[in-house]
Amino acid sequence: MEFRIAVLGGDGIGPEVTAEGVKVLQAVGRAFGHRFHMEYGDVGGISIDKHGVALTPQVRGLAGSADAVLFGAVGGPKWDDPTAKVRPEDGLLQLRAHLGVFANLRPVKVYPQLIDSSVLKPNVLEGVDLLVLRELTGGLYYGQPRGRHETPQGWVAVDTMQYSEGEIERVLRVGFELARSRRSKLTSVDKANVLDCSRLWRQVATRLAKEYPDVTVDHMLVDTCAMQLVQRPSRFDVIVTENTFGDILTDEAAVLSASMGLLPSASLPDVPVAGQPIRGFYEPIHGTAPDIAGKGIANPIGSILSTALLLRYSLGLTEEAASVERAVAQVLAQGCRTPDILTPGCTRLGTREMGDRVVAGLLAKA
Ligand code: IPM
Ligand code: MN
Repeated sequence: MEFRIAVLGGDGIGPEVTAEGVKVLQAVGRAFGHRFHMEYGDVGGISIDKHGVALTPQVRGLAGSADAVLFGAVGGPKWDDPTAKVRPEDGLLQLRAHLGVFANLRPVKVYPQLIDSSVLKPNVLEGVDLLVLRELTGGLYYGQPRGRHETPQGWVAVDTMQYSEGEIERVLRVGFELARSRRSKLTSVDKANVLDCSRLWRQVATRLAKEYPDVTVDHMLVDTCAMQLVQRPSRFDVIVTENTFGDILTDEAAVLSASMGLLPSASLPDVPVAGQPIRGFYEPIHGTAPDIAGKGIANPIGSILSTALLLRYSLGLTEEAASVERAVAQVLAQGCRTPDILTPGCTRLGTREMGDRVVAGLLAKA
């Protein structure tokens, strides 16, 4: 089969790790007889430098017409002036909104091989296998009004958290469906003791729960969830929450996996149904890591595992997706480590070498 993939590496380590994701996709193509046409575009700071905007209409069009988008990361100190008119992050937020990818799946797995690389105790990490479903196109990130204005008392800044019932319902439905395909446990996370958005969220979740009697639902306040995530993470199966809470909780959850560099994500415009590919947006959850950009030491596994999600959800290539995930697990079992997950006795690899090892593992098995 033939597919068109939009490849948007962005800034910092984004292009380096994305190149390894592309390398792995091309290897999957060779092993399984598919053709992936990669179409490259600039987004974020690099696009601001070249075109004055974080996302050009051409790149928006490219992303909107491809079968899937593989994205790196955007941002960096160069564009961090708090008074700047354009920000690299705008490119990412516009893409998410343009593609309508409201459901952001962030699976968190603990590889037994990496338990010693985590700062947490092994007994806490035992049996951890959770999925954070983050609402991605609403809440504080998009609510109006927003901005700053000057008053006699000084500057005032406003951001608005806003959710409609429809926006809440559609992401919760994805959560219920995903829970069904896993261990049938859904934790809906909110701040219903303070926020109106969260009270509406809880009301909708309670109503939907009646439609999914086979799914065990609990409601948890986001501050409690933050604590439980490091205290007893194995209690979670699917966590579903609004945009900002999901952003924060997934960085925290990354600590369970030993490194941010390992975690992939899939952003989808609908409920994923096996055998029914939908256009999606795929990115590692980490940022641009400006301190290590260009050094060839970034961990590409987040991007590589994002290609596995891309194969599964947007191209319907289930076996191919599983082969990428197996190759990653195998390479980790062989003791291959980028510096972020390096422990004594393991082999230190750079970004490209790690990609090469995953490709080798993939081709050996296929
Ligand atoms: C993420 C990032 C983005 C977000 C930034 C770069 C806008 O932190 O994907 O988690 O907050 O969504
Ligand atoms: Mn984030």
